[in-house]
Amino acid sequence: MPSHLHPWPNERIRSFRRALLEFFQQRQRDLPWRDAPWRDTPTPYGTLVSEIMLQQTRVETVVPYYLRWMKRFPDPETLAAADDEEVLRMWQGLGYYSRARNLLKAVREVVTEYGGEMPRDRAQLEGLPGVGPYTAGAVASIAFGEPEPAVDGNVRRVLARLMDDPVPKPGTLERWARGLVDPHRPGDFNQALMELGAMVCTPRSPSCSSCPVSTHCEALAKGTVEERPAPKTRRAIPRLVEAVAVMVRTPTGGRPEPEVLLLRRPATGLLARMWGCPGREVVGGDDPARVAWELARELLAGEIVDGAADRSLAPGESVCEERAEGPETPTELPSVEHVFSHRKVTYRPYRFLVEEADAPLGDAPFADSPNLRWVSFGELGGVPLPVAQLRILDSVRGAEADGPP
Ligand code: ADE
Repeated sequence: MPSHLHPWPNERIRSFRRALLEFFQQRQRDLPWRDAPWRDTPTPYGTLVSEIMLQQTRVETVVPYYLRWMKRFPDPETLAAADDEEVLRMWQGLGYYSRARNLLKAVREVVTEYGGEMPRDRAQLEGLPGVGPYTAGAVASIAFGEPEPAVDGNVRRVLARLMDDPVPKPGTLERWARGLVDPHRPGDFNQALMELGAMVCTPRSPSCSSCPVSTHCEALAKGTVEERPAPKTRRAIPRLVEAVAVMVRTPTGGRPEPEVLLLRRPATGLLARMWGCPGREVVGGDDPARVAWELARELLAGEIVDGAADRSLAPGESVCEERAEGPETPTELPSVEHVFSHRKVTYRPYRFLVEEADAPLGDAPFADSPNLRWVSFGELGGVPLPVAQLRILDSVRGAEADGPP
């Protein structure tokens, strides 16, 4: 039947499926989103959550996040009703935060458009925010037993080797996978391909001698396994430097703990709607301390009340030359590096101690802005913060414990 999709004869395809499913039966890892006699069968919603978490993230990292998530948001209704900020906080540390925002939108759509029941149809699944061909195929096959392919990075590598194709096109991969998928156990079959890619058919030093489908592998027969698929040429990712103003409000009578000023990032772009210390890119040969100082001055003057602190300087505009007016000279904190998918950022944080007496530094001018708030160190756990910000704030907390310089 599938010969128009995959070039192998039917008998070979059947033998491949048998060997792969046998391997899965014997060697699959016990993962919390998988079916097992000692847990309730995973729900379609649980499959969606796990597959979205597993995009670009390792299984070992995902497991504790998945368990915590399903405890707090066990079904679509609970997640749909949750506060956006709490959802971001539960994702904190997993990265690629647009996944969390899209998952929330998708589940809200499931509740409003589908009465809280996940759709089983690939096209309807692909219509949900953040659900692409891979995730739709994974949910349709794993949760609903639909004979749909699910080609992720691991499966791409397995298929490229099986068919000895150095640069398989997405459409070809999808066709092969559709031709191979076992119509009786599509979810197990797709997860078996992923498992094979993760445990046996690894990018480097694959374990061909223990591979259950090595007799089918055309790259192994030709001695080209290590060259399949051909490495993708990666474009060099830009490196950026960001000066960070860590504004610490010292305790006074009514406030026993120091507080730090946090700014919420704009609703679009990198780390959208996450909180953090205000930062600004350092361009040209600017001195990061000076950029941070200027940013602090603008914050204290009430010139920044939303997440757009990261403005670039206009042509001809330079950072303030004079330091006669404005914050005290800051204390430099350790730099923090973070690699995002498409850029590497070095954060250069500076701590500014803000005195109650510096008039506009009380709650005004921030009182009216929903995007700026003073947060005590004890309250930081309740705010969605990217990993790099946590590291910066950890070093400030350390400095606070040591006392002022
Ligand atoms: N990677 C993506 N989906 C997966 C799954 N269901 N099991 C293991 N690894 C995966």
